[in-house]
Amino acid sequence: MNDLTMDKIVSLCKRRGFVFPSSEIYGGLGSTYDYGHYGVLLKTNVKNAWWQAMLGRDDIVALDSAILQHPRVWEASGHVGGFSDPMVDCRTCKARFRADHIESMACGRKPSRKPGEGGECDLTEARQFNLMFKTTIGPVEETGSTVYLRPETAQGIFINFKNVLQFSRKKPPFGIAQVGKSFRNEITPGNFVFRTREFEQMEMEFFVPPAEAGRWFEHWVAERYRWYTDLGIRAENLVVRAHGADELSHYSSGTSDLEYRYPIGWSELEGIANRGDFDLKAHATASGEKLEYVDTATGERYVPHVIEPAAGVDRATLAFLCDAYAEEEVADGVRVVLRLHPRLAPVKVAVLPLVKKDGQPEVARALYDTLRSRMQAEYDEGGSVGKRYRRQDEIGTPWCVTIDHQSLEDGTATLRDRDTLEQVRVAIADIPAMLTERLAAR
Ligand code: GAP
Repeated sequence: MNDLTMDKIVSLCKRRGFVFPSSEIYGGLGSTYDYGHYGVLLKTNVKNAWWQAMLGRDDIVALDSAILQHPRVWEASGHVGGFSDPMVDCRTCKARFRADHIESMACGRKPSRKPGEGGECDLTEARQFNLMFKTTIGPVEETGSTVYLRPETAQGIFINFKNVLQFSRKKPPFGIAQVGKSFRNEITPGNFVFRTREFEQMEMEFFVPPAEAGRWFEHWVAERYRWYTDLGIRAENLVVRAHGADELSHYSSGTSDLEYRYPIGWSELEGIANRGDFDLKAHATASGEKLEYVDTATGERYVPHVIEPAAGVDRATLAFLCDAYAEEEVADGVRVVLRLHPRLAPVKVAVLPLVKKDGQPEVARALYDTLRSRMQAEYDEGGSVGKRYRRQDEIGTPWCVTIDHQSLEDGTATLRDRDTLEQVRVAIADIPAMLTERLAAR
């Protein structure tokens, strides 16, 4: 782990088609990325695992709200007035820096130094810069046509509180979960997909009776920690860090971050916040709608408090990639392997005929056809088997099945384990059930 660099992850992602710089043929568009086949499969598995953790309980329901919302949503939420970072510009080189990050940043000029350190540097005073992207709705740009791309998925949940309460037949404590894109015009994006201007979030707002907020906050910090470690993140690379009073967002009365040890150092992976009744009250005041829970049996009414675990899909995907990455000395050189949890691995099994003749491809294809209806599988007959193993190791495939001349004689094949490199002979007919069972057991 110590010698893992972000460059190694970026290079593997590019080499194996996980993630590419966006708009590459036009020279790229700073800090925007496109996910290729394996990246999409991995990211989808991360999101599915999150949905499973949420909807596997009976006190959470799903939502998919619009990215474009009424501009008053963002006034009420505090984002129009307060969602900003202090920035300074350099009049000489035209670069822009976050004022609160200057100490840890390098100026783009050579020799490299902090912004403001060079004789020619000419920094402006710090100014507040709102992070929301604006666009216009309708064919004509006119007053009142400005809308924002959502900077978080959470507000779509709060403004639907009444709808969901009515139709889900839930009562607090209960949660509403959502996954989707969010947009922030970050001043200093960077570190690959760690901080980008367009990213995906997995957020859940858990509505609780006010007196239970503290208990549920602790519950969700522990649950979210367990989710990452159950999916393979090593405990030594994950910590819970409580925010100091000076770090809290405008809505929060308590936040703990799950921080991961990325190659760039310990950084936020997910935040769990106690948002109190800030959001429901703000939207109730601004919209005139009552956003509260009324117990029809007792007549009791209250505005629930909210505990929010807010995760980034891209940051989680990056953490899983970093944690899984390993380089190992093997007999014929260095092997790069992604030891991804089988549930997250983009491809679960690869079927490889040893040679492209003697009936081996036909047997391999028949097995592949059976396997692919049960799990993400690949068939690969190109190149030496050693090279094909290396390729599967680099995309994190937990199992490879090799069909050879013996397979045609006795109906067995070699099953290779990505992590132990152990190869055992098993009956081909048993492989689909065996791997299905192994996947379900993890
Ligand atoms: N609703 C609360 C909220 O949005 P946040 O800490 O600003 O809280 C939650 O964001 C998570 O979203 C972060 O922990 C991170 O994983 C992800 N995230 C935030 N900004 C991001 C960015 N610019 N690029 C990638 N992921 C980001």
